[in-house]
Amino acid sequence: MNRRLGVLISGRGSNLQALIDAIREGRLDASIAVVVSNREYAAGLEKARGAGIEALVLSHRGWPSRDDYDRALVRELKSRDVGLVCLAGFMRLVGAPLLDAFPNAVVNIHPSLLPAFPGVDAQRQALDYGAKVSGVTVHLVTPELDGGPIILQRTVAVLAGDTADSLSARILVAEHQAYPEAVALLLDGGWRVEGRRFVGRAVSDAPRSASAASA
Ligand code: GRF
Repeated sequence: MNRRLGVLISGRGSNLQALIDAIREGRLDASIAVVVSNREYAAGLEKARGAGIEALVLSHRGWPSRDDYDRALVRELKSRDVGLVCLAGFMRLVGAPLLDAFPNAVVNIHPSLLPAFPGVDAQRQALDYGAKVSGVTVHLVTPELDGGPIILQRTVAVLAGDTADSLSARILVAEHQAYPEAVALLLDGGWRVEGRRFVGRAVSDAPRSASAASA
């Protein structure tokens, strides 16, 4: 797989920073060709520039249709020879033009154990529901919101006394580990999608536990 990433953001960009750090530290064999934000003042743009990465603002406003915006995104990404599109807090539903241009090559990170708590405020949803465990999901993107094949998940305990902020902060630590790991897994290949299952050397499938190793 082409190891040039296009990272799409709308805000803070801490997952973008996690990808930048992983690349710099040699944990992720990739390069970031461009960071695109649909919002002009996304803090993540500064993180990109600080790392010497091209930071592009492409507002979602003023296009005749949602598909026209997606097509413009595709043009920007393809012209930079991007092979994998990483959504990192990109607050837009991506549609057919982008997904068709990058088949099984658009990935997203979500702060819950999907299919529980899709959409916005996933951490608050988990807390309000009374879940005892939540976590992180990295998944391939399909037209269904937060519904694509799951690449990897990490659990995070919900603690007594947690607020949405404290739970979000702990989940974020797990996100920053999970995203580079999942992107590395994708880029290494040797996986396939069967129905809605991502089948490959998923980390959770690896014979890591004592019982699995001795089996
Ligand atoms: C993260 O919680 C991510 O899981 C969700 O949006 C948030 C983005 O945070 N999709 P950041 O911009 O990466 O700091």
